[in-house]
Amino acid sequence: MPAFLFIKKEHNMRLDKYLSENANLTRKTAKHALHRSDVTVDGVVVKKGDVKIKEQVVRLNGVLITVKGPTYIMLNKPVDYVCSTVDDDGLSVLHLIDEDLHRGLHIAGRLDKDTTGLVLLTDDGQWSHRITSPKSKCNKVYMVEVMEVLEPSLVDVFKEGLELNNESDLTRPATLEILSDNKARLTICEGKYHQVKRMFSAVDNHVTALHRSQIGPLVLGDDLAPGQWRKLTDEEINGLA
Ligand code: URA
Repeated sequence: MPAFLFIKKEHNMRLDKYLSENANLTRKTAKHALHRSDVTVDGVVVKKGDVKIKEQVVRLNGVLITVKGPTYIMLNKPVDYVCSTVDDDGLSVLHLIDEDLHRGLHIAGRLDKDTTGLVLLTDDGQWSHRITSPKSKCNKVYMVEVMEVLEPSLVDVFKEGLELNNESDLTRPATLEILSDNKARLTICEGKYHQVKRMFSAVDNHVTALHRSQIGPLVLGDDLAPGQWRKLTDEEINGLA
């Protein structure tokens, strides 16, 4: 699908909704702003929230309010943060991101609390589906440390697929690159619950440290220290889906 088809957002809605979506107001504060005559549409004060906005110029206290596109964020998850967007779920990765970006965000492929590394957040459900759906075959790369020595024969075992507890299907072919006795790089294209840990436990090993370094072509570089995040560029957004 060409990039511009999903980056451009529909721009045809009630004025109160337009303000709450694009000016970081709640429906209630948008209503108050309208009552206070703070809002103009094409230069004319408008007090009614149900006016339809299509191509008109909307200003709040003289400041131009443009349509906010979808949000795409990459984050380097530190240990102990949970991949949850529900506020009362402990120390959520959402707390690391500016609050005015939170609304509607979800996580495209969660990591466990003790896993570190690349997490993607967005409010674009179609885009995240293309990343997480096993049908899209979007690779995820993990740096893994394990308790027991990694035997070279495991490379073929991971390639052929493993039987996980409580799963009827074998895991899809995975690429295991053994880096040392206890360290490996694992590339998988699916994201079953605790998948990497369960794959190693299926071969009687135990994961002691796990870090996601790459999703599709997007690599977590040195520019983001643990806890840091940034918005994706258009090229990165399009390259991922
Ligand atoms: N697989 C796991 O077991 N844990 C993660 O956090 C990610 C993949």
